[in-house]
Amino acid sequence: MNMSKAKRAIGIFDSGIGGISVLKEMHRLFPHEDLIYFGDSKFAPYGEKLRSEIMARCTEICEFLISKGVKAIVIACNTATSAAVDMLRERYPNLPIIGMEPALKPAIQQSRSHYVAVMATPFTLSEKKFSDLMKKHQENNTIIKIPCPQLVQIAEHNELDDIAKIHDQLHQYFDEVDQDKLDAVVLGCTHFIFFKKHIQGILKDSVRIIDGNEGTCRHLMDILRERNEINDAETKGSVMIYNSSKEDDILELSYE
Ligand code: DGL
Repeated sequence: MNMSKAKRAIGIFDSGIGGISVLKEMHRLFPHEDLIYFGDSKFAPYGEKLRSEIMARCTEICEFLISKGVKAIVIACNTATSAAVDMLRERYPNLPIIGMEPALKPAIQQSRSHYVAVMATPFTLSEKKFSDLMKKHQENNTIIKIPCPQLVQIAEHNELDDIAKIHDQLHQYFDEVDQDKLDAVVLGCTHFIFFKKHIQGILKDSVRIIDGNEGTCRHLMDILRERNEINDAETKGSVMIYNSSKEDDILELSYE
């Protein structure tokens, strides 16, 4: 077994604080792994940026994580995955790089009405990766795309306690959706986990809200297992959090 590699940390990054939900899930499922998180809040949101800008940010962040000696990187951001995962895998061929995409397949499997909504950033929804994913599932299903850039801003601006603003925004997104048919919603952006209970609150109880966090974490561990790079330490792993923003609010939110 490649001991020294197994003991190294896993790097996780996002455009901001959204990927913290992936970090938490990773720590819950695999508590013996050391984790290093990088949030790029100074440059958030990615969802309204150009592909070239997102690629440049992702490269810089990966260089930082690699300088910390990580054994794998999780792109805890659907938007950054759409823009940069192919380029990053080419650039770092020996490093496992796990991306995220909207969990449309599990949502469709769980849907009875075959009427499913996908909430994501405008960038993710307009990318070829997403239209290819949609094409695979479109035949017998109605898939509604809901671009939600405002939710990313609400999270990054620490307005998560502004319930009236959040509900108003969510009503705008869902007013056009056929509530009688809708029975599954995909959270196609890691920032949206913060809004899960509010989204559930404005929809029928029977609507399932699905994210890709657990699937992503398990997928990474399958890859590390194959490579004999699981950390078999008996003590709990460490968690380090970095952010490009030095705002107190962001750092507080990251450690909540
Ligand atoms: N958290 C990111 C995602 O999963 C996007 C947020 C942003 O627009 O920066 O897509």
